[in-house]
Amino acid sequence: MSHADDHAGTRRDFLFYATGGAGAVVTGAAVWPLINQMNPSADVRALSSIRVDVSAVEPGTQLTVKWLGKPVFIRRRTEEEIADARSVDVSALPDPVARNNNASAPLDATDENRALDETGEWLVMIGVCTHLGCVPLGDGAGDFGGWFCPCHGSHYDTSGRIRKGPAPENLLVPVAEFVDETTIKLG
Ligand code: FES
Repeated sequence: MSHADDHAGTRRDFLFYATGGAGAVVTGAAVWPLINQMNPSADVRALSSIRVDVSAVEPGTQLTVKWLGKPVFIRRRTEEEIADARSVDVSALPDPVARNNNASAPLDATDENRALDETGEWLVMIGVCTHLGCVPLGDGAGDFGGWFCPCHGSHYDTSGRIRKGPAPENLLVPVAEFVDETTIKLG
């Protein structure tokens, strides 16, 4: 094979790949506007409220849903968990504020001020540790039977209030309400 042939071969290869590359770009450009058009509706949905069916949540278990890019814990508490949460001396808590976005003004961190319903059976919280943002473990984790963040050892009680460790605030209660017997609306 002469040097010239060799050169021509290289050149053909180059053209082939260049054409293939251009094709890929065209395909990408055609697909992108479609995806892009779909994004706004997904964003709008995420920003607005969502409804969560909680009919399958048994007492003593929790459902974790994603909302606004964050995990939300929806826990159906047992009688014991509620009693534990309500027997606490609020003035002794590291964070004495309810951190409940359903309230228009800051409230004391009583369990009554944090639970979703009057019986206290339902507790809804943003599942993000108030220390550096890890997702705490649930189902009775930690020294206070609520949630535990293993990142740096923050213990939350059965009302999601910080009791021990570096987290400065109670887990945040988002805007939420029951819209029927088995549906909770977030936002
Ligand atoms: S992020 Fe939870 S303890 Fe540090």
